Amino acid sequence: MPAPEWSIEALSCPHHNRKGFTCTAKPLEVYLRCQARQDVEKRIAAVFVLTPDGHTIAGYYTLSQFSVRLADIPPETARKLAKYPDVPATLLGRLAVGDPYRGQKLGEKLLLDALARSLEHSKGVASFAVIVDAKDESALGFYRKYGFLAFPGTNNRLFLPMGTIEQLLTELK
Ligand SMILES: CC(C)(COP(=O)(O)OP(=O)(O)OC[C@H]1O[C@@H](n2cnc3c(N)ncnc32)[C@H](O)[C@@H]1OP(=O)(O)O)[C@@H](O)C(=O)NCCC(=O)NCCS
Repeated sequence: MPAPEWSIEALSCPHHNRKGFTCTAKPLEVYLRCQARQDVEKRIAAVFVLTPDGHTIAGYYTLSQFSVRLADIPPETARKLAKYPDVPATLLGRLAVGDPYRGQKLGEKLLLDALARSLEHSKGVASFAVIVDAKDESALGFYRKYGFLAFPGTNNRLFLPMGTIEQLLTELK
């Protein structure tokens, strides 16, 4: 069988089969099935799905605008930013690969697409970094592999500066 031609598309209902998405991380499964469509309609989150055929959903991620208190950012990064109380950022709120599709570099494909999209968007609406809240130790391991850095004083919040994202994507070209 030929390898699928993966594409990453904005969630569109009813074209994409949200009910067919299964993920052992149940909150991430339930979110796509029950909440994602409303979040898109209410402009709370942009949802992008990875599909082999325009219908099946193999994975997804969400992006939203976000802001971070300068005081919460590690001093070595904060020092380089303007002295505003809050700085603009991009929230990668959720990212998941469906159970049947794990271990095929699709998580990486989704993450790199989310980073590239965030970087491109930041040229029009500024953002200093992509922020993630990793749901557990395993997710922390996944994001750290791509260079995400910890926020001091939090167990699960990580960030990747836009400058680092630009470098990473240039290296991968
Ligand atoms: C984490 C997740 C997205 C990884 O997706 P995946 O498609 O199975 O992973 P990939 O095949 O793309 O892995 C890419 C690389 O990351 C590594 N990796 C994958 N999961 C990892 C983990 N939990 N910790 C450390 N490294 C991990 C892989 O070994 C691979 O490394 P390699 O290039 O050196 O071989 C997926 O397991 C998932 O959806 N988990 C449940 C939801 C979740 O935890 N989401 C994170 C956001 S809260």
